[in-house]
Amino acid sequence: MKFHFYIFLLVFSIFSFSQAQYEHAWQNLMPQPQDIHLQKGQFVLDSLFTVAIPDTASRRVQIAATKFIRRLTNRTGLFVKHGFPLSLKEVPQANIVVHYNRTGNLQLHEDEAYQLKITAQQINIEAGTDLGVVFAFETLLQLLDNDHEKYFFQNLTISDKPAFTWRGLMIDAARHFQPVAVIKRNLDAMLVAKLNTFHWHLSDDQGFRIAIKAYPQLTQKASDGQFYTQAQIKDVIQYAADRGIRVIPEIDVPGHATALLTALPDIASRKKNYQLQRNAGIFDPTLDPTNPQTYKVLDKIFKEIAGLFPFAYIHIGGDENRGRQWDANPEIQAFMRQKGLKNNHELQTYFNVKLEKILQKYHKKMMGWEEIRTPQMPKTALIHVWRGRAGVSLTKTVKSGYDAVLSNGFYIDLMLPAATHYQTQLYPKQAHLTIDQKAHILGGEATMWSELVTPFTIDSRIWPRTLAIGERLWSNPSGTNLRQMYQRLFAQGYHLEELGITHIKNRGVILRNIAQNQDISTLQALSRLYEPLKGYKRNKAGTEYQSYSPFMLFADACSADAEDALRFGFLVEDYLKQPNSENKRKIVIYLKKWQHFGEALKNLHTNPKLELLRPMSRSLANLAKDLNRLSLEDAIVNQAFVQQLQADYKIAFKAYNDVSLALKKPLNILIKYWLKQKGYNWSE
Ligand code: ACM
Repeated sequence: MKFHFYIFLLVFSIFSFSQAQYEHAWQNLMPQPQDIHLQKGQFVLDSLFTVAIPDTASRRVQIAATKFIRRLTNRTGLFVKHGFPLSLKEVPQANIVVHYNRTGNLQLHEDEAYQLKITAQQINIEAGTDLGVVFAFETLLQLLDNDHEKYFFQNLTISDKPAFTWRGLMIDAARHFQPVAVIKRNLDAMLVAKLNTFHWHLSDDQGFRIAIKAYPQLTQKASDGQFYTQAQIKDVIQYAADRGIRVIPEIDVPGHATALLTALPDIASRKKNYQLQRNAGIFDPTLDPTNPQTYKVLDKIFKEIAGLFPFAYIHIGGDENRGRQWDANPEIQAFMRQKGLKNNHELQTYFNVKLEKILQKYHKKMMGWEEIRTPQMPKTALIHVWRGRAGVSLTKTVKSGYDAVLSNGFYIDLMLPAATHYQTQLYPKQAHLTIDQKAHILGGEATMWSELVTPFTIDSRIWPRTLAIGERLWSNPSGTNLRQMYQRLFAQGYHLEELGITHIKNRGVILRNIAQNQDISTLQALSRLYEPLKGYKRNKAGTEYQSYSPFMLFADACSADAEDALRFGFLVEDYLKQPNSENKRKIVIYLKKWQHFGEALKNLHTNPKLELLRPMSRSLANLAKDLNRLSLEDAIVNQAFVQQLQADYKIAFKAYNDVSLALKKPLNILIKYWLKQKGYNWSE
């Protein structure tokens, strides 16, 4: 973001995440705009506040303007006289005036730029298309500021446009079905992150989730009754289009096909009866690429899909086919010899090329996971990069001449911190890409695989972290000030609740369920210190949890960025920089609190789920007790104490209940620092 300071200089306050406070709303913008000029003065809001849009405004602009007014009044409590947008022709001097040239197309490389000019008299939104207008309203809402007596917008000019044309969120509705309401609220939230592409993963081993008229058995036999009707699909596409979001469907073939083959076993590479998969993992059931009937079926399925989804691309999956059923089938092996197909990659390319022809027939382009990038694959395919070391596969893809969308680094189901995703580079360092090669990188996509998420918990896995990914894709900032990023992430993240996102409130629901409606304040505090196991460690071998397992456990109430652990980390950072008593006091407040956790849980009536948490809270309390002692200036430290500390530390950082204590880094720093003062070394 470029900042320009005109007329007067606003002192950029030192962000203090620990206080969750900020000086000015514009400091908390996320994604950061490309260009911002601050000016003196404010536009002050009152109940006569008006918004005017052109008489010919698209439904997209009408919805955005109306929703903006509603969210603004909900945030301010203002009882405005004009609760709906007015006509620009009739009220050209309205407080917010919107001008744009045309309705945007929901295709690649469309103009999504906007300008926002705030003066004391009027706020101007200008854009080439209505897509820019939608984003301008989101930015303006983030700029809402207040002092003790009024709400206002800081005078400024913003000129903004996205760095990448593909800014996606994938939701896997196959592993756990996600009802329409879940999809819609996440589409609303996508706008806050300025994302524009919803990738709908509609089939996998665990379910086939879209009704296909030609094959009603697909949803009758392979969905447990949990699927979208075509009317629902159309409704979601319209809802997304009204928000400037395009929708790309995915039917995953030829692997990840247990559900499809449960309904249509005749086109499997191994003839048998199939049943829906209830575990997570990579499974063998695979379509038979040598069977002409396979292509007849796919033609009918993709014909219906192409008719439903207006976006130019259809995603055909193509990932993780180990080809075991192909290897074991003598007829398939004979077919390969006859066609001169040397290996399973070549056989899958044979399949993909035929599939691409089917898509072309229905005027669609093919997107697939990076496994489809084989030497014979036409360059018209769009490659979805997700594997390997950072940047390596992306570089290879674009240097081979394919367009690419990056998800490696944006796998939000890994439960990694927002900082990890934020630091993922779209233009890999050391790749030395030419301008043309860079142009092949269309953007990126957060992937919400749903093996371990239900409609109840999915929001807390997507948000707020996806705001950080949104900034990477919209602003592509060159600097990565993580502390400031987290400040903004949490500042904007909680506003998502006004759109119905349940990432905060459902944590309380889970904890109340655990505590059987007793006081959950201790459990809440614990849940802000522990994070679900990262990577895929929570679900060992994919069989610890099944799709019907309870996902209402303590781990489900914890997030990938334990907020208090983050705050504590920043306090320790401050303290090491300035080891004064005030900075120390802030740390000790936490330590004292943690020391009481063991007692606090003891006061609750227990039950089997709550009982599981006791060793965890006790071990944290024991460690905190040691640290409280160590924090004292006159503490007497001896070898026995250090050994006790080491033992307590080890126990506290054991993984309990599929979570781990997120305090490792700051506590290590702190212990090392304090022990050194007493003449002792520390190693974990
Ligand atoms: C994938 O994660 N199997 C694309």
